[in-house]
Amino acid sequence: MVRAVAKQHPSTLCFGVEKALLPNLLTWFYSLSPSLKNVKYLKEDFTTVSLSHADAVFLYLWPGIMDQVANKLKAELPKNAQVISCNFELPEFSLEQTEIVCIKNRRYKLYLYSVGL
Ligand SMILES: C[S@@+](CC[C@H](N)C(=O)[O-])C[C@H]1O[C@@H](n2cnc3c(N)ncnc32)[C@H](O)[C@@H]1O
Repeated sequence: MVRAVAKQHPSTLCFGVEKALLPNLLTWFYSLSPSLKNVKYLKEDFTTVSLSHADAVFLYLWPGIMDQVANKLKAELPKNAQVISCNFELPEFSLEQTEIVCIKNRRYKLYLYSVGL
């Protein structure tokens, strides 16, 4: 996902955050051919990464941590930021739009939120 966004927006710095080993091995593989200069991968727990300068956040996490994530986003994101969550709703955010996308025969539901003014 982060690579697709970075490709479409070459002047935007995009960060991918993942704490588990296996997905991080994949990002290590991608970084061997750094064709995209505007992507950085962080092997971190999402809850420890500051979001205070983020314009947009794309989430694809687990249902069990969405409460914690919602609190973090509310506390840290700039007021005009946008949030998209894949498959899991974000509590306490007002939903603007949903969209179903199918990629390689898999169906994903995207929830779009804005933090508000
Ligand atoms: C539904 S999977 C998505 C997998 C993969 N990122 C993808 O796009 O196909 C959820 C992922 O969220 C990661 N995750 C869950 N909690 C996290 C956290 N607090 N910080 C960073 N990554 C987290 C898990 O390690 C897991 O890889």
